[in-house]
Amino acid sequence: MIDYPEFASMVQSKLPDEGIISCTSPSNIALVKYWGKRPVQLPENASVSFTLDQCKTETSISYKKRDTVGEDFDFELFFEGKSKPDFKPKIQIFFQRVEKYLPFLKHYRFVIKTSNTFPHSSGIASSASGMSALAYCLMQLERKIHSEITDSELLQKTSFLARLGSGSACRSIEGPVTVWGAHADINGSSDAYAIPFPFEIHQNFKNYQDTILLIDKGEKQVSSTVGHDLMHGHPFAKERFEQASKHISKLKEILISGDMDAFIQIVESEALTLHAMMMTSLPYFILMKPNTLSAIHKIWKYRGTAGSKICFTLDAGANVHVLYPESEKKQVLEFITNELVVYCQNGQYICDKIGLGAKIV
Ligand code: DP6
Repeated sequence: MIDYPEFASMVQSKLPDEGIISCTSPSNIALVKYWGKRPVQLPENASVSFTLDQCKTETSISYKKRDTVGEDFDFELFFEGKSKPDFKPKIQIFFQRVEKYLPFLKHYRFVIKTSNTFPHSSGIASSASGMSALAYCLMQLERKIHSEITDSELLQKTSFLARLGSGSACRSIEGPVTVWGAHADINGSSDAYAIPFPFEIHQNFKNYQDTILLIDKGEKQVSSTVGHDLMHGHPFAKERFEQASKHISKLKEILISGDMDAFIQIVESEALTLHAMMMTSLPYFILMKPNTLSAIHKIWKYRGTAGSKICFTLDAGANVHVLYPESEKKQVLEFITNELVVYCQNGQYICDKIGLGAKIV
């Protein structure tokens, strides 16, 4: 593992005895997708996302100093009020990866309680909000131990730690737009953590809306981790990573200039390319459902006839994120209820918009 001395920390003799910290952290939706990584949790290409507002994880950690420092981590995990031993291995791996940056971890017994504002198994990635919320809580404890850490250092280290839990999680700490991955056109960008988009975003994108059509709430057949892995030896990997890099350069200019047509082209191309990578890997797989395609065709038709700037993007699943400017909210919501809800499982969809990232509660 590459060493990052800037994020190192020391255990101090005076650790707080016990306490509780609560925070929320949102999910995010990538505009330029992260798909393909190298050890440990480093992206093959830079990605850009909108941080969401309503789809979030609420996490609290109670911490109590142990009588003696343990050999192992000591934590219990509750998800929506119930003990969740099957979530523990992921947290265990996360703790192992971050221990050298948070050396107090084995000094405490933790009780972690977590819940999501979005329905369980809605197909909305909970790893981004969940891992970013956990990293944010742990950094609040780090701040109690090392009070000299500045706000910007804290945010950067939180993103760094969240990445080690789940790549996309590092983009949820701040908002409204973040960039993860070193890119020549984005000053200060890094493979190790995400940064807020370092330019003024055009008014057209302020309060951008994201209505998530819950097309299929079933378990995914292929996890993101397996999908990332299939980019190793993928016949189009090199071209894909180059394309993503060009898309970042273009998207940077678009977010500054407010060119909505160019935005639509990049965002939809990214969504379809992500799924094209899945369809052309070995083994190949398809995460879209027939209703995903039906919704996309309806969106295209509406855009053509209504002169709207609506567009869609996709995550690693069947759900469709419908993106549109705040100025079109009323008409687009009418279109969604009249024409897209039929494609949603049990008629379910979530109205979200871009937001500002993790918060203490
Ligand atoms: C398709 O961040 O879930 O949502 O790093 O293995 O936890 P891990 O993967 P994850 O991958 C997200 C992939 C994506 C695109 C994106 O969010 O950029």
